[in-house]
Amino acid sequence: MTDQWPASHRSGPHAWTDLRNCVVSGDWFHAPAAGRLERMAGGLLEIGADGRIAAVCHAGSEEHRTLAREAAQAGRLVTLDGLLIPGLVDLHVHAPQYPQLGKGLDQPLEVWLQRYTFPLEARYADRLFARSVYRRLVADLLAGGTTTALYFASRHVEATCELADACIEARQRALVGRVVMDNPDQCPDFYRDASVAEGVAATRAVAAHIAAHPANTGWVRPVITPRFLPSCTDDMLRALGHLAGECGCHVQTHCAESDWARDYGQDRFGHSDMEALDRFGLLTRNTVLAHGNFITGSDMDLLARRGGAVAHCPLSNAWFANAVFPLRAALDKGVRVGLGTDIAGGPSASMMGAMRMTVAASRMLRDGVDPDRPAAERGRPGSAVDMMTAFHLATAGGGDALDLPVGRFAPGQHFDALRIDPDASLGTMRLWGDESDEDLLATALYTASRANITHVWTDGQQTGQGARPA
Ligand code: GUN
Ligand code: FE
Repeated sequence: MTDQWPASHRSGPHAWTDLRNCVVSGDWFHAPAAGRLERMAGGLLEIGADGRIAAVCHAGSEEHRTLAREAAQAGRLVTLDGLLIPGLVDLHVHAPQYPQLGKGLDQPLEVWLQRYTFPLEARYADRLFARSVYRRLVADLLAGGTTTALYFASRHVEATCELADACIEARQRALVGRVVMDNPDQCPDFYRDASVAEGVAATRAVAAHIAAHPANTGWVRPVITPRFLPSCTDDMLRALGHLAGECGCHVQTHCAESDWARDYGQDRFGHSDMEALDRFGLLTRNTVLAHGNFITGSDMDLLARRGGAVAHCPLSNAWFANAVFPLRAALDKGVRVGLGTDIAGGPSASMMGAMRMTVAASRMLRDGVDPDRPAAERGRPGSAVDMMTAFHLATAGGGDALDLPVGRFAPGQHFDALRIDPDASLGTMRLWGDESDEDLLATALYTASRANITHVWTDGQQTGQGARPA
């Protein structure tokens, strides 16, 4: 097909660094709705000067021929090979826990937090330590295809600002929250907010820093971040609820993650975590709840009414949750859901891994796990999701959960995307030539590794090491 275009069209990796103002031809896959895959082989995406998609043209139409011809004549046509998918959205990352990835996973949540996590997070009082970890983390996540992330940082204003700066400088879309925790019963002396006033003022200070950053043309936003109900006093939760109402910004917290966390909420408040968050004004359209494994049917109804979202973290749940999140039930009730790695509760930073584990966990919930029980009593029928649903959740679902225009190849969306090269020499993906559309994408999502992710773009510009001319 490219043969018919004038020689002025651009192809090859040297032409792929900056796709703004270009018309890009490629093999695009996206999942605009749960379980619905669309492929546009040879489709054209026109990308504006602002890095957003201006037009989408399917191959074979008159419009496609005209756009291709005009773009080629203007030297604006770029041909990409490989598979192209939307950038991945990680809805739950603890940035300061990156050095803990894969460590200390032998304890239940409440012990893990006290023994490993809080001492590590306390080290971010050192701004230079924060800077070096956060730059590494943002670069690594981008290289793995995570173009948008919802971050918990530590309690430190300066360190949290370092994280925001790292995202802005690397052009990763992010929401960044300074974690709030003031309950002396649950937080150690060395890692605790001294007062409600401190928690609120620090949250405001980070938001002001993010708003004032001269290069922040919408890349990073603040997010109010009470760690979870056990970490915060009632007064703090109330104050943060007021702040959320006042500023209209996002809220994130953990909800009903484990048996212990669920019981803690029930004992302290006399009702569920969800109900408590709602009473404190923390459950809105802008709320993202991590985990939610133990939310009941009526909790889900309340969440759906408020319009909040769940960050489903299936890998982390295998270690800390004691149960599998009823994802299918949440989707059926209209709850918005995206996927999270939960670094470092989940010992992998890969959103491809999160997709794989989403499918596996849902199958285990459906079928059950105890072989001594009869098959008919072992699982929860109707709980499985397929890879196309997981792909939707990791892309458009995450974008929808944050009300951000990312995750689909459609006009008005940011051009955040990755190229998967099935033939990458150090890659792990093998194609045999007989794949259907769905098989082709499923093979990529199940078997590709980082070496297969050769290019990552945000707002049309390549990010990471590869972005620099050799
Ligand atoms: N609950 C409260 N804090 C945390 C955390 O850092 N990780 C996880 N997985 N759960 C939490
Ligand atoms: Fe978490």
